[in-house]
Amino acid sequence: MINEISKRRTFGIISHPDAGKTTLTEKLLLFGGAIQEAGAVKSNKIKKGATSDFMEIERQRGISVATSVLAFNYKDKKINILDTPGHKDFAEDTFRTLTAVDSVIVVIDVAKGVEEQTEKLVEVCRMRNIPMIVFINKLDREGKDAFDLLDEVEQKLGLKVTPLSFPIGMGFDFKGIYNIWEKNINLFTGESKTSIEDTIAFDDVNNPELEKLIGDQSAETLREELELVYEVYPEFDAQAYQKGELQPVFFGSALNNFGVRELLDCFIDIAPSPRPKNAEEREVKPNEDTFTGFVFKIHANMDPKHRDRLAFIKIVSGTFERNKPYLHVRNNKKLKFSSPNAFFAEKKEIVDVSYAGDIVGLHDTGNFKIGDTLTEGEQLNFKGIPSFSPEHFRYINNADPMKAKQLNKGIDQLMDEGVAQLFTLEMNGRKVIGTVGALQYEVIQYRLEHEYGAKCTYENFPVHKACWVEPEDPKNEEFAEFKRVKQKFLAKDKHDQLVFLADSPFSIEMMKQKYPTVKLHYVSEYK
Ligand code: G4P
Repeated sequence: MINEISKRRTFGIISHPDAGKTTLTEKLLLFGGAIQEAGAVKSNKIKKGATSDFMEIERQRGISVATSVLAFNYKDKKINILDTPGHKDFAEDTFRTLTAVDSVIVVIDVAKGVEEQTEKLVEVCRMRNIPMIVFINKLDREGKDAFDLLDEVEQKLGLKVTPLSFPIGMGFDFKGIYNIWEKNINLFTGESKTSIEDTIAFDDVNNPELEKLIGDQSAETLREELELVYEVYPEFDAQAYQKGELQPVFFGSALNNFGVRELLDCFIDIAPSPRPKNAEEREVKPNEDTFTGFVFKIHANMDPKHRDRLAFIKIVSGTFERNKPYLHVRNNKKLKFSSPNAFFAEKKEIVDVSYAGDIVGLHDTGNFKIGDTLTEGEQLNFKGIPSFSPEHFRYINNADPMKAKQLNKGIDQLMDEGVAQLFTLEMNGRKVIGTVGALQYEVIQYRLEHEYGAKCTYENFPVHKACWVEPEDPKNEEFAEFKRVKQKFLAKDKHDQLVFLADSPFSIEMMKQKYPTVKLHYVSEYK
């Protein structure tokens, strides 16, 4: 078991949309032999869209809504890539997925540099000390100067970087890459789109052979640039990387399959195997004998004939076995799973045993919520599935009085999946849906109608931010007054926690000053 666990590398690829996440994922799968042709990952996306109405929304908008798992073997490692939606309206889904990864690769477009969505996602990784490797993509195009980019990454993302490869030219002049990690040169011919490129060992860049390979001018520039790299950036330190204190950087072109092998080879050398995870009760280590895991994602079944859902479980410790009873801690109920899915490339198949680090997909008829813990009997609750304040808030109204039950059930289940957040106003019991992006309202409306036969309308509710309320003393007069004054703006979230729906930054500041013992938080955690 310990041997199997140490082979696992479970990670996510994050980027701003269009930086090349899908392309890179696909090339990694090609190297793993998990797919045979370029284009397979994308065409798969479209195929799903054609067979399901919900995914049609995704297809039309050209965004990837669903988070799925792609696994393959490479050398002696088992690699699990957790795909994350790049679109900002689904950022919360990505944040949750980041609770299930052991490391990430950050993709940055060489011409656009650090973009908004990258900043947000990296911030979450930084807060959790997740080890990160940066891949600067699209070197076949004109882009920013490599040193300027490294500066930008450090400043905007708050990282401490060290390049492990360095480009020789760029765009029209792009000649290849010097691999600092392996000490070799990889020449770019532009013809390596599907093949695995050859490299030329080059221990010493002062070797005059360099001129013959890349020409006098480029050789001189490369030597100068490498000298600067060695002077300015720290030597790579695997431990610092694993602690989230140092981030290695690679350059390449995913589309041309260039620099991707270097990235992958280094990744399997340095990236961490499954890491321990904190539960409220204790820290759980991956190689413990007994199984533990938690739900980080619930996926609605795309086939309207089957109402069940797929709950994605990250195995934190031990092994997960088919048909063995496990404790669903929140419900205090034993459950058995006869057909757990494992993921391989873009397919899923039934497996008998999965190990810590793996993701299993369990068919669920409504038992699971995001954040739920499964164990062999121990009372454990894993921490750290965050719920951030939504950006948009709207009342949800029932548009078909005959279907009130269906609507409530639909809303409940969609919220369990983490599609959006529900707040119920204390004063009148009205329901408010909070989302990260406006697009989610359409998805919810569509799914309520097509999956639950319920119709809804929305009404604006001007809220600036949701703040989770934590009184120092729930019995003191200050808290009672706060509740009286802000009655109209108080709601309960799905877990019955009290939330203050503030209409402006000013009102948050006012409350903080007036009621210092009532703490306001922008983040909650699913319990
Ligand atoms: P995403 O998942 O991060 O959103 O990005 P995706 O991989 O879909 O890539 C976005 C666009 O960038 C795609 O072009 C893709 O072909 C292109 N791209 C990815 N890597 C490279 C690279 O190394 N060099 C260059 N020049 N382009 C790259 P598209 O026109 O939007 O899509 P498509 O029609 O080519 O599929």
